[in-house]
Amino acid sequence: MANEVGNAAGPLACNLLLSFLAFLIAKRLIPSMSSHFIRAKLFGRDLNKTSNDPVPEGLGVVCGTVYLVAMFAFIPFPFLFAWLQSGPHPFPHEQFVVFLSALLSICCMILLGFGDDVLDLPWRHRLILPTVASLPLLMAYLVTIQRTIIVVPLPLRFLLGNNIDLGLLYYIYMGMLAVFCTNSINILAGINGVECGQSVVIAASVVIFNIMELIFQEAGWFHLFSLYFLIPFLGVSLALLHHNWYPSAVFVGDTFCYFAGMTFAVVGILGHFGKTLLLFFLPQIVNFLYSVPQLFKIIPCPRHRLPKFHPESGLLHMSYSQFKSNDLSRIGHILLHILSTFHLADVQRGKGEDGTEIRVSNLTLINFVIKIVGPIREDKLTKCMLAIQILGSAAALFIRYPLAWTFY
Ligand code: UD1
Ligand code: MG
Repeated sequence: MANEVGNAAGPLACNLLLSFLAFLIAKRLIPSMSSHFIRAKLFGRDLNKTSNDPVPEGLGVVCGTVYLVAMFAFIPFPFLFAWLQSGPHPFPHEQFVVFLSALLSICCMILLGFGDDVLDLPWRHRLILPTVASLPLLMAYLVTIQRTIIVVPLPLRFLLGNNIDLGLLYYIYMGMLAVFCTNSINILAGINGVECGQSVVIAASVVIFNIMELIFQEAGWFHLFSLYFLIPFLGVSLALLHHNWYPSAVFVGDTFCYFAGMTFAVVGILGHFGKTLLLFFLPQIVNFLYSVPQLFKIIPCPRHRLPKFHPESGLLHMSYSQFKSNDLSRIGHILLHILSTFHLADVQRGKGEDGTEIRVSNLTLINFVIKIVGPIREDKLTKCMLAIQILGSAAALFIRYPLAWTFY
């Protein structure tokens, strides 16, 4: 194992301890803050329950705050201690800048995410916010790491050479990674525990990946850096999941989705493992691609696409988007045809008063799972989604190791 990792045993132990403390504090703080959220009118209704009680919304901000405090408390350990120990070596200014800018980006994302929860911003802002929040990080990347070269897979090397320098394109790709990570978690949502649960699985998977890299590849400090950011994240997210699990006492809000996505983007970008990171987002990628017709309004998209609760049976059914045939564009009709031919969605046509009415099941992975397994209880559905996420991670590690060794 690399020497820097050997030296990191102390800071890693401190990080673990702080993460555990953050877990305990967040677990206690979330329920005690709930009444404040209700008083401030920050609540939503659980659409999949018979009771209409307000559920405090946006508790991701509490979790994010505890995370930041834990990270601030952690700053001295990897830097000051290493500096004191190493004697005449210069202070690692570059790593310090990177560390602080990463925290700045996450902090900025929590602030903007909370703004979104309070103000309920329109969709176009959701693309701008993560881009803005990722700027400090990209700036730090520009002045320190600067690497914009990617390794070309073996089969393409005769065409492109061993490496390509993407230059500016690499920065655009990193900005888009932040937008994707944040929003893709936010749209795989709507049943108790799913936003937080998927984030916990992704974080745990990246932690496993970082540890494997540190042990087997003798990789640089950025895998360590990724662990420093992800272990406390796991601590606070597990605490939130405890309260957000079925039946949810609190909702995580967009704050949490942004916070989680940005944390992943930060470690992926600075650790230079953006491509591997995306492998852990397989269910989110599938859900995003499947959602594209609704996200781009080719097929009408209702405000909520979460499954439909049937109070008589207590089970969740697929939810539908309903519209008039005339309101659909030509491309919309072609897409509907493809979706129904390949059984990718449930498409129903009926005669209404003024022309044909169309009902199409909302294009989300959650709905698609219900299409396959049939009506299901909410907690079982969340477990199903998390099982898919875990299988995705296992596939990702398989692709990353045996296949990558063949291709790189
Ligand atoms: C995204 C989804 C939307 C989905 C919503 C649910 C897209 C384009 N947008 O919108 O389809 O309905 O998330 O989070 O895919 N809620 C529950 N149970 C839960 C979690 C949330 O009933 O377990 C409801 C509550 O009423 C809560 C609301 O969803 O107040 C939160 O929705 P919000 O995060 O504002 O929705 P979006 O992120 O805009
Ligand atoms: Mg949301």
